[in-house]
Amino acid sequence: MHGHDSSSSPVGRLVAESLTGHLSRREIMKRGIALGLSGPVIGMILSAQQRSALAQDATPAGQEVGWSIVVPEGLRTDLPGARVRAVLTSSAHPDRPWQEAAMRIFSEATGITTEFVPGEESATDRLAIYNQQLGAQSSDNDIYQIDVIWPGIVAQHAVDLNQSLADLAALHFPAIVENNSVDGALVGMPWYTDAGLLYYRSDLLEEYGFENPPETWDELQEQAQAIQDGESADNASFRGFVWQGNAYEGLTCNALEWQFSSGGGRIIEPDGTVTVNNPQAIAAFDRARNWVETISPEDVTTFNEPSSLNAFAPGNAAFMRNWPYAYSVTQAPDSPLVGMVGVTQLPMGDGEGATHAATLGGWQLMVSNYSQNQEAAIEFVKYLCSPELEKAFTIERSHSPTISAVYDDPEVIELQEFLARLKPVFEGGAVARPSTVTADLYNSASIAYHTRVNQILTGQIDGAAGAAEIEAELQDIMAELGY
Ligand code: GLC
Repeated sequence: MHGHDSSSSPVGRLVAESLTGHLSRREIMKRGIALGLSGPVIGMILSAQQRSALAQDATPAGQEVGWSIVVPEGLRTDLPGARVRAVLTSSAHPDRPWQEAAMRIFSEATGITTEFVPGEESATDRLAIYNQQLGAQSSDNDIYQIDVIWPGIVAQHAVDLNQSLADLAALHFPAIVENNSVDGALVGMPWYTDAGLLYYRSDLLEEYGFENPPETWDELQEQAQAIQDGESADNASFRGFVWQGNAYEGLTCNALEWQFSSGGGRIIEPDGTVTVNNPQAIAAFDRARNWVETISPEDVTTFNEPSSLNAFAPGNAAFMRNWPYAYSVTQAPDSPLVGMVGVTQLPMGDGEGATHAATLGGWQLMVSNYSQNQEAAIEFVKYLCSPELEKAFTIERSHSPTISAVYDDPEVIELQEFLARLKPVFEGGAVARPSTVTADLYNSASIAYHTRVNQILTGQIDGAAGAAEIEAELQDIMAELGY
């Protein structure tokens, strides 16, 4: 093809050009909209293009950010000029360009202006800022992304989405919808779910003679040590295992995995019993303490998700604990690790009650009660949490969707094989933090927990003393709640 074709109609030309693969999906959409084509017709052109592109090359390398976004049908176009400000990911996060592209595409389709407002990187800090803004009933922001552990904390500030989006909610995992419901009100629409995963360098496992990734924490330690011993000869910054050890919400997630996978309980059980001060949990904390300065760097006790990824992504670690988003970063066209990263369940402990465990994470979209643009904000939530947008977020950013059917989509299976493979983990197999039982005191409980665990990791107290202190503090919190 040389830019000429026999078709005389602009629509025919668009179809023909799209099949050459020289037009980005964004371009096809823009031109389709300009020609006045309906959403379904543009969708047909896009899927024909996608089929021919997949036949040639399954890698979306070189595509424009947002290439896979298909605008869902039925969005309102009668709110032009309305402006929605949404607090989404943090300013330097790798998801940011995709989220901004999704906002632009929404604005083009609806005439509603959107503004990306970065949130804090740490969930703990983010909550503090949200509490200030919402506590002051500020109307500055219309939408907030909220953590799966916060519905009980922010419910009073949220528009009940059951009034407008009950049909959409019915498509999402019922357990997450239930988690997001407080006194019958839907506080946030599920957007993506998260579960802690083990990332490993498949090339290095092979090189060092390990046939499979580790099943148990002991095996992880053995493999990480052997690979680190070998690799650090040429690369002084190379480490066996990186994870999130800073005193913040992310450490609560990591430490819950250590203790639950060893049969040590879920910090606070759904019936209010505190389960931290037991031999399995103590052994799990002490085991993690021993990773520091052996298979993990000394400053892992200050690491969050991006710092772990900053060690793993350039090739300076054999194993990493992180959430699904990290995969797309390691497989970006300019990554040195394309084709060399495996993803599997985190290892388990040994002894009674040991099991694989992944902490349940994930984010929802909430419309603020104090928004002066609630109708437009609801439309944006409807868009971003639609099957179409969840699929695009999954394909381009390796996020785990909250809609079952998206996991079974052929493009998702092809491009994000690990998500489809680990679907049972995302679909209810992950371990929840005790946010339902602690309701609006969850954050105090989590702070008590991760502060002490961090002290164990830095050697300020030992596992047994730390566990006893956490137990006492959590029992006080539970007493406040009437347990
Ligand atoms: C991820 C999870 C979230 C968790 C946070 C901790 O963003 O989705 O649930 O609280 O990590 O850092």
